Amino acid sequence: GKVAVLFGGSSAEREVSLMSGSAVLAALQAAGVDAHAFDPAERDLHILKEEGFDRAFIALHGRGGEDGTVQGALELMGIPYTGSGVMASALSMDKWRTKMVWLACGLPTPRYAILEADTDWEAVVADLGLPIFVKPVHEGSSMGATKVTEAGQLRAAWELAACYDSLVIAEEFISGQELTAPFLEDRALPLVRIVAPDGNYDYQHKYFTDDTRYDCPCGLPEAEEAALQALVMKSARVLGCRGWGRADLILTDDGRPYLLEMNTSPGMTGHSLVPMSARVAGLSFEALCLTLLEGARL
Ligand code: DAL
Ligand code: MG
Repeated sequence: GKVAVLFGGSSAEREVSLMSGSAVLAALQAAGVDAHAFDPAERDLHILKEEGFDRAFIALHGRGGEDGTVQGALELMGIPYTGSGVMASALSMDKWRTKMVWLACGLPTPRYAILEADTDWEAVVADLGLPIFVKPVHEGSSMGATKVTEAGQLRAAWELAACYDSLVIAEEFISGQELTAPFLEDRALPLVRIVAPDGNYDYQHKYFTDDTRYDCPCGLPEAEEAALQALVMKSARVLGCRGWGRADLILTDDGRPYLLEMNTSPGMTGHSLVPMSARVAGLSFEALCLTLLEGARL
Protein backbone atom coordinates (compact mmCIF):
# COMPACT_ATOMS: atom_id res chain seq x y z
CA GLY A 1 0.00 0.00 0.00
CA LYS A 2 0.88 3.69 -0.09
CA VAL A 3 3.21 5.04 2.57
CA ALA A 4 3.36 8.70 3.56
CA VAL A 5 6.73 9.93 4.80
CA LEU A 6 5.79 12.85 7.04
CA PHE A 7 8.47 15.50 7.19
CA GLY A 8 9.06 19.22 7.17
CA GLY A 9 6.46 20.53 9.57
CA SER A 10 6.56 23.92 11.23
CA SER A 11 8.71 23.38 14.33
CA ALA A 12 12.09 25.00 14.92
CA GLU A 13 13.59 21.70 13.73
CA ARG A 14 11.93 21.90 10.30
CA GLU A 15 15.29 22.13 8.56
CA VAL A 16 16.51 18.96 10.30
CA SER A 17 13.29 17.16 9.48
CA LEU A 18 13.65 18.06 5.79
CA MET A 19 17.04 16.32 5.84
CA SER A 20 15.75 13.29 7.79
CA GLY A 21 12.63 12.89 5.68
CA SER A 22 14.33 13.15 2.31
CA ALA A 23 16.85 10.50 3.36
CA VAL A 24 14.08 8.17 4.59
CA LEU A 25 11.96 8.77 1.48
CA ALA A 26 14.85 7.98 -0.85
CA ALA A 27 15.72 4.81 1.08
CA LEU A 28 12.15 3.51 1.11
CA GLN A 29 11.69 4.24 -2.58
CA ALA A 30 14.99 2.53 -3.39
CA ALA A 31 13.70 -0.51 -1.51
CA GLY A 32 10.61 -0.56 -3.72
CA VAL A 33 8.13 0.91 -1.22
CA ASP A 34 5.40 3.11 -2.70
CA ALA A 35 6.46 6.02 -0.51
CA HIS A 36 5.45 9.65 -0.97
CA ALA A 37 6.57 12.87 0.66
CA PHE A 38 4.02 14.63 2.85
CA ASP A 39 4.66 17.95 4.63
CA PRO A 40 2.00 18.63 7.26
CA ALA A 41 2.94 22.33 7.19
CA GLU A 42 1.81 22.53 3.58
CA ARG A 43 -1.08 20.09 3.39
CA ASP A 44 -3.84 19.12 5.79
CA LEU A 45 -2.94 15.80 7.37
CA HIS A 46 -6.51 14.59 6.97
CA ILE A 47 -6.03 14.28 3.21
CA LEU A 48 -3.97 11.15 3.95
CA LYS A 49 -7.15 9.17 4.43
CA GLU A 50 -8.82 10.40 1.22
CA GLU A 51 -5.66 9.76 -0.76
CA GLY A 52 -5.54 6.14 0.36
CA PHE A 53 -2.36 6.14 2.42
CA ASP A 54 -2.30 3.13 4.68
CA ARG A 55 0.84 3.77 6.72
CA ALA A 56 2.84 6.78 7.85
CA PHE A 57 6.56 7.07 8.54
CA ILE A 58 7.07 9.94 10.95
CA ALA A 59 10.27 11.88 10.20
CA LEU A 60 9.07 15.05 11.89
CA HIS A 61 11.05 16.54 14.77
CA GLY A 62 9.88 18.83 17.54
CA ARG A 63 6.44 20.16 18.30
CA GLY A 64 3.58 19.34 15.95
CA GLY A 65 5.18 16.06 14.90
CA GLU A 66 7.25 14.43 17.62
CA ASP A 67 4.98 15.52 20.48
CA GLY A 68 1.91 13.31 20.12
CA THR A 69 -0.23 15.69 18.06
CA VAL A 70 0.37 14.05 14.69
CA GLN A 71 0.27 10.64 16.39
CA GLY A 72 -3.19 11.50 17.74
CA ALA A 73 -4.47 12.59 14.34
CA LEU A 74 -3.19 9.35 12.77
CA GLU A 75 -4.83 7.34 15.56
CA LEU A 76 -8.17 8.98 14.80
CA MET A 77 -7.77 8.34 11.07
CA GLY A 78 -6.77 4.72 11.74
CA ILE A 79 -3.45 5.05 9.89
CA PRO A 80 -0.62 3.02 11.53
CA TYR A 81 2.55 5.04 12.12
CA THR A 82 6.14 4.48 13.14
CA GLY A 83 7.45 5.09 16.64
CA SER A 84 5.88 5.98 19.96
CA GLY A 85 2.20 6.59 20.58
CA VAL A 86 0.50 9.76 21.79
CA MET A 87 1.36 9.61 25.48
CA ALA A 88 5.05 8.67 25.21
CA SER A 89 5.58 11.17 22.40
CA ALA A 90 4.04 14.01 24.41
CA LEU A 91 5.88 13.05 27.58
CA SER A 92 9.28 12.64 25.92
CA MET A 93 8.95 16.01 24.17
CA ASP A 94 8.73 17.54 27.63
CA LYS A 95 12.18 17.47 29.22
CA TRP A 96 10.80 18.50 32.61
CA ARG A 97 8.11 15.84 32.98
CA THR A 98 10.47 13.24 31.53
CA LYS A 99 12.90 13.96 34.35
CA MET A 100 10.12 13.80 36.92
CA VAL A 101 9.15 10.32 35.72
CA TRP A 102 12.76 9.14 35.67
CA LEU A 103 13.42 10.52 39.17
CA ALA A 104 10.24 8.89 40.47
CA CYS A 105 11.53 5.59 39.10
CA GLY A 106 14.97 6.05 40.64
CA LEU A 107 16.68 6.67 37.30
CA PRO A 108 19.57 9.16 37.32
CA THR A 109 19.19 12.53 35.62
CA PRO A 110 20.92 15.87 36.32
CA ARG A 111 19.37 18.17 38.92
CA TYR A 112 17.33 21.02 37.51
CA ALA A 113 15.24 24.11 38.13
CA ILE A 114 12.41 25.64 36.12
CA LEU A 115 13.22 29.26 35.25
CA GLU A 116 10.65 32.03 35.25
CA ALA A 117 10.69 35.82 35.09
CA ASP A 118 10.70 36.11 38.89
CA THR A 119 13.30 33.38 39.44
CA ASP A 120 15.98 34.11 42.02
CA TRP A 121 18.93 33.71 39.61
CA GLU A 122 21.51 33.72 42.41
CA ALA A 123 19.71 30.91 44.20
CA VAL A 124 19.67 28.80 41.01
CA VAL A 125 23.41 29.29 40.59
CA ALA A 126 23.99 28.48 44.25
CA ASP A 127 21.94 25.31 43.91
CA LEU A 128 23.09 23.97 40.53
CA GLY A 129 26.61 25.37 40.41
CA LEU A 130 28.27 26.45 37.16
CA PRO A 131 28.16 25.80 34.29
CA ILE A 132 24.40 25.44 33.86
CA PHE A 133 22.56 24.31 30.73
CA VAL A 134 19.49 26.38 29.96
CA LYS A 135 17.03 24.89 27.49
CA PRO A 136 13.48 25.31 26.26
CA VAL A 137 11.51 22.40 27.77
CA HIS A 138 10.03 21.29 24.44
CA GLU A 139 12.78 21.62 21.85
CA GLY A 140 15.33 19.43 20.13
CA SER A 141 18.66 19.79 18.33
CA SER A 142 19.92 22.29 20.98
CA MET A 143 17.51 24.95 19.68
CA GLY A 144 17.49 27.90 22.08
CA ALA A 145 19.92 26.17 24.44
CA THR A 146 22.84 27.91 26.16
CA LYS A 147 25.69 26.68 28.30
CA VAL A 148 25.91 29.34 30.99
CA THR A 149 29.37 29.69 32.49
CA GLU A 150 28.91 32.90 34.52
CA ALA A 151 26.05 33.76 36.86
CA GLY A 152 25.44 37.04 35.02
CA GLN A 153 24.53 35.16 31.80
CA LEU A 154 21.68 33.18 33.30
CA ARG A 155 18.92 35.71 32.71
CA ALA A 156 19.88 36.26 29.07
CA ALA A 157 19.97 32.49 28.54
CA TRP A 158 16.47 32.25 30.01
CA GLU A 159 15.29 35.06 27.69
CA LEU A 160 16.65 33.26 24.63
CA ALA A 161 15.06 29.92 25.60
CA ALA A 162 11.80 31.71 26.40
CA CYS A 163 11.62 32.83 22.74
CA TYR A 164 11.10 29.17 21.89
CA ASP A 165 8.96 27.98 24.73
CA SER A 166 6.82 29.10 27.63
CA LEU A 167 8.71 26.64 29.84
CA VAL A 168 12.47 26.89 30.38
CA ILE A 169 14.61 24.45 32.30
CA ALA A 170 18.07 24.90 33.84
CA GLU A 171 20.13 21.78 34.37
CA GLU A 172 23.32 21.21 36.35
CA PHE A 173 26.32 20.51 34.15
CA ILE A 174 27.62 16.96 34.43
CA SER A 175 31.18 16.54 33.32
CA GLY A 176 31.94 13.32 31.48
CA GLN A 177 31.59 11.47 28.19
CA GLU A 178 28.65 12.39 26.02
CA LEU A 179 26.89 9.27 24.78
CA THR A 180 23.77 8.49 22.84
CA ALA A 181 21.90 5.22 22.98
CA PRO A 182 19.47 4.21 20.26
CA PHE A 183 17.05 1.33 20.46
CA LEU A 184 14.94 -0.49 17.94
CA GLU A 185 11.88 -2.29 19.33
CA ASP A 186 13.21 -4.21 22.36
CA ARG A 187 16.78 -4.22 21.18
CA ALA A 188 19.39 -1.74 22.34
CA LEU A 189 21.74 -0.70 19.55
CA PRO A 190 25.43 0.11 20.08
CA LEU A 191 26.14 3.32 21.98
CA VAL A 192 27.77 6.23 20.17
CA ARG A 193 30.29 8.46 21.92
CA ILE A 194 30.19 12.10 20.82
CA VAL A 195 33.39 14.10 21.00
CA ALA A 196 32.55 17.65 19.95
CA PRO A 197 35.18 20.39 19.69
CA ASP A 198 35.45 22.04 23.15
CA GLY A 199 32.55 19.83 24.27
CA ASN A 200 30.15 22.04 22.30
CA TYR A 201 27.72 19.67 20.59
CA ASP A 202 25.41 22.44 19.42
CA TYR A 203 23.15 22.83 16.35
CA GLN A 204 26.03 23.64 13.96
CA HIS A 205 28.13 20.74 15.22
CA LYS A 206 25.12 18.41 15.07
CA TYR A 207 24.34 18.93 11.41
CA PHE A 208 26.68 21.20 9.52
CA THR A 209 30.30 20.81 10.52
CA ASP A 210 32.53 17.79 10.24
CA ASP A 211 34.68 18.46 13.30
CA THR A 212 32.61 16.41 15.75
CA ARG A 213 34.04 12.93 16.27
CA TYR A 214 31.71 9.99 16.73
CA ASP A 215 32.95 6.68 18.12
CA CYS A 216 30.81 3.64 17.45
CA PRO A 217 31.60 1.19 18.97
CA CYS A 218 31.90 3.70 21.80
CA GLY A 219 35.03 2.19 23.37
CA LEU A 220 33.52 1.24 26.74
CA PRO A 221 34.10 -2.25 28.13
CA GLU A 222 31.32 -4.61 27.00
CA ALA A 223 29.80 -5.05 30.45
CA GLU A 224 29.66 -1.30 31.06
CA GLU A 225 28.00 -0.69 27.70
CA ALA A 226 25.48 -3.46 28.42
CA ALA A 227 24.64 -1.88 31.79
CA LEU A 228 24.04 1.49 30.12
CA GLN A 229 21.89 -0.16 27.46
CA ALA A 230 19.79 -1.80 30.18
CA LEU A 231 19.39 1.59 31.87
CA VAL A 232 18.28 3.14 28.59
CA MET A 233 15.77 0.37 27.88
CA LYS A 234 14.30 0.95 31.32
CA SER A 235 14.23 4.71 30.79
CA ALA A 236 12.25 4.12 27.58
CA ARG A 237 9.90 1.61 29.18
CA VAL A 238 8.87 3.93 32.01
CA LEU A 239 8.06 6.66 29.46
CA GLY A 240 6.03 4.17 27.43
CA CYS A 241 8.15 4.51 24.28
CA ARG A 242 7.75 2.00 21.50
CA GLY A 243 9.23 1.19 18.11
CA TRP A 244 12.44 3.15 18.38
CA GLY A 245 14.07 6.06 20.09
CA ARG A 246 17.36 7.47 21.27
CA ALA A 247 18.32 8.47 24.79
CA ASP A 248 21.12 10.98 25.32
CA LEU A 249 23.28 10.56 28.39
CA ILE A 250 26.47 11.58 30.15
CA LEU A 251 28.84 9.12 31.80
CA THR A 252 31.05 10.67 34.47
CA ASP A 253 34.72 9.74 34.70
CA ASP A 254 33.95 7.70 37.80
CA GLY A 255 31.33 5.69 35.92
CA ARG A 256 28.04 7.30 36.95
CA PRO A 257 25.47 7.67 34.15
CA TYR A 258 22.97 10.54 33.89
CA LEU A 259 20.05 10.45 31.48
CA LEU A 260 19.52 13.77 29.70
CA GLU A 261 16.50 13.22 27.49
CA MET A 262 14.58 10.84 25.28
CA ASN A 263 14.11 11.47 21.56
CA THR A 264 11.11 9.63 20.11
CA SER A 265 11.67 10.74 16.51
CA PRO A 266 15.45 10.76 16.25
CA GLY A 267 17.27 12.46 13.42
CA MET A 268 17.83 10.43 10.26
CA THR A 269 20.14 12.89 8.52
CA GLY A 270 23.55 12.11 7.08
CA HIS A 271 25.06 13.34 10.37
CA SER A 272 22.61 11.50 12.62
CA LEU A 273 23.49 8.88 15.15
CA VAL A 274 20.77 6.22 15.00
CA PRO A 275 21.74 5.36 11.39
CA MET A 276 25.41 5.26 12.44
CA SER A 277 24.70 2.89 15.33
CA ALA A 278 22.37 0.71 13.22
CA ARG A 279 25.12 0.34 10.63
CA VAL A 280 27.51 -0.96 13.31
CA ALA A 281 24.77 -3.42 14.33
CA GLY A 282 24.66 -4.66 10.72
CA LEU A 283 21.60 -2.71 9.54
CA SER A 284 22.04 -0.52 6.47
CA PHE A 285 20.09 2.75 6.34
CA GLU A 286 17.65 1.10 3.94
CA ALA A 287 17.19 -1.92 6.24
CA LEU A 288 16.70 0.43 9.21
CA CYS A 289 13.97 2.36 7.39
CA LEU A 290 12.24 -0.87 6.34
CA THR A 291 12.39 -2.27 9.87
CA LEU A 292 10.88 0.93 11.27
CA LEU A 293 8.13 0.85 8.67
CA GLU A 294 7.34 -2.78 9.43
CA GLY A 295 6.92 -1.77 13.06
CA ALA A 296 4.27 0.86 12.19
CA ARG A 297 1.14 0.41 14.31
CA LEU A 298 -1.81 2.11 15.92
N1 DAL B 1 16.03 16.19 17.79
C1 DAL B 1 16.93 15.59 16.84
C2 DAL B 1 16.28 15.41 15.52
C3 DAL B 1 17.50 14.32 17.34
O1 DAL B 1 17.39 14.08 18.52
O2 DAL B 1 18.06 13.56 16.57
MG1 MG C 1 16.40 15.97 21.74
